[in-house]
Amino acid sequence: MSGNHESIHGLWSSRWAFILAATGSAVGLGNIWKFPYITGENGGGAFVLVYLICIAGIGIPIMMAEVMMGRRGRSTPINTMSRLCVESGSSRVWKLIGWSGMLAGFLILSFYSVIAGWSLSYVLDSITGTFSGADAEFIGSHFGNLLASPGALLFWHTLFMVMTMIVVARGVEHGLEKAVRFLMPSLFVLLVIMVGYAMSMGEFARGVEFLFKPDFSKLTANGVLIAMGHAFFTLSLGMGAIMIYGAYLPAKTSIAKTSVLIAVADTTVALLAGLAIFPIVFSNGLEPGAGPGLIFQTLPIAFGQMPGGLFFGTLFFVLLSFAAWSSAISLIEPAVTWLVENRGMERFKACVIAGIATWLMGIGTILSFNIISEVKLFDKTFFDLLDYLTANIMLPLGGLAMAIFAAWLMPKIAVKDEFNMGEGIAYQTWYFLVRYVAPVTVIIVFLNAVGLI
Ligand code: PHE
Repeated sequence: MSGNHESIHGLWSSRWAFILAATGSAVGLGNIWKFPYITGENGGGAFVLVYLICIAGIGIPIMMAEVMMGRRGRSTPINTMSRLCVESGSSRVWKLIGWSGMLAGFLILSFYSVIAGWSLSYVLDSITGTFSGADAEFIGSHFGNLLASPGALLFWHTLFMVMTMIVVARGVEHGLEKAVRFLMPSLFVLLVIMVGYAMSMGEFARGVEFLFKPDFSKLTANGVLIAMGHAFFTLSLGMGAIMIYGAYLPAKTSIAKTSVLIAVADTTVALLAGLAIFPIVFSNGLEPGAGPGLIFQTLPIAFGQMPGGLFFGTLFFVLLSFAAWSSAISLIEPAVTWLVENRGMERFKACVIAGIATWLMGIGTILSFNIISEVKLFDKTFFDLLDYLTANIMLPLGGLAMAIFAAWLMPKIAVKDEFNMGEGIAYQTWYFLVRYVAPVTVIIVFLNAVGLI
């Protein structure tokens, strides 16, 4: 299909444009906010090791499958799946991949935007010198005050949603490429500077040990599920975001090379964030398992003390907000494009509808940090539930379905045609991982987490 069937949205201007957009989607709060805090909550090294194995053994192969399916179908995930079902003569139930992906994207964005709002509010705090010379206690209570204020959270969530929907309304090809081209490398450099600063602190070695020395006694079955779920979340897999970006990919581009590149960049950012944060945690006597507020309670301590901290702090939260923003766009893009293609809506109207729905849903997350923080189901707040349901259940299930579809149902000739890398060792490895390893692992991890094995 690719080659003679162009996406109705045009194509990326080059291979690099795709790489930048997909990296923009992958690198976000997942790397800098979520990875450190779930690593802290799940005991460090062993958790990180499982996460890295999942990235290499499941994440990269499924990313290749998802991009490949997107390029073959050249449409929104739902329409792509219906084309692929026709081509492979498979049942139309596989379109569920597209539907559940659209739903997952909407649910994730609803809380993602609230967290991105924290980052926006920290831009203002940094620039006005709130953190200058402040100690851990002050910064901790500052963060606590933010969470306790539904009005402030709502304000920043609203601002972030408006920013996101403006870009989506204009179409992803415009602007996004250029922004990501400069901002991603800057974020990377800034993280390296932060790691450099962390090295100068007393507890750098302890931070490294926490991250990289596995202690399997600290790893639970649920921790393994969280590590695997995070591999999907951080690479934006299993919900169609990467599939829809793949739909714009020029026919000749190597899917394998680009996928590896994106995964490596994404993982590097996460590890750098961990290396910057844990030394601060330990040298200030903080708790690694402090939860979702971890980076917001640790990094400002460093910015408050380091030379040029006002500048670096402001820049950091600006760049983090941008990283969140380029991920947010890809979370809602499948839903918006679907409304345009299948409901015949104007793109602007589709954005307003999708944006308002997501914004409303986000209010649940906001309240779960204050007014309804005691309301729990399965011992989880509304935010925790949404996060758990999407990252640890919906994305891995979506990825599982994609793996099965790509390796068991699609005509081999079509798959090979898209990959265009012959039948050498690289292809064979992919095939083996996607056909057997990924599905079996996902199922075992699921069963293990619910205590069935
Ligand atoms: N990968 C993004 C992050 O790590 C989040 C995301 C998940 C984006 C799923 C798109 C799809 O922040």
